[in-house]
Amino acid sequence: MANNGVNKGRRRFLVGATTVVGAVGAVGVAIPFVSAWQPSARARAAGAPVQADVSKLAPGQRMTVEWRGRPVWIINRTPEMIERTESFAADRLADPDSQASLQPAYSAGQMRSIRPEIGVLIGICTHLGCSPVYRPEPDATGVGVDDWPGGFFCPCHGSRFDLAGRVFSNVPAPTNLEVPPYRFEGDNIIVVGEDEETA
Ligand code: FES
Repeated sequence: MANNGVNKGRRRFLVGATTVVGAVGAVGVAIPFVSAWQPSARARAAGAPVQADVSKLAPGQRMTVEWRGRPVWIINRTPEMIERTESFAADRLADPDSQASLQPAYSAGQMRSIRPEIGVLIGICTHLGCSPVYRPEPDATGVGVDDWPGGFFCPCHGSRFDLAGRVFSNVPAPTNLEVPPYRFEGDNIIVVGEDEETA
């Protein structure tokens, strides 16, 4: 009986000690785990929204900003460029309504943008990641097709995109160029990396 009493007491102590050690152990493990998941200032900066001032972007011109290490193209589309893009035969495009392509809901529509005259696209080919060249002129040579509406040509493997970033049929790229999240701040400032609805 005496042994039983000792053993029970010792057992209670051991259980208590184990619990305390367990709790200390859990705290000791939790702190470095949490701190390891804090993004560095550099990582936060890399994912931060970027602003672009389009006040000096002439009609027809394109500018590039970097967001999350990727080039973002901003194009000032003229009324004529918009007309050419909107009237281009949809059956020559692989995903004319962007059903299978990445873009925010607020950029639905043929021009895939909040304002038809300002296009915002990730400048990376959806085939293997090359950077297509800007060929806005309708009579561009070297793009390999007739009735070119103006757009982007990826010489790596011959993918073609119109001025809204919509991919042609029968080219290696499977989907349209991606439209990143973005919003306007006033008339001329675009904030890339923030959604229009949530900002
Ligand atoms: S990477 Fe653009 S066509 Fe292959």
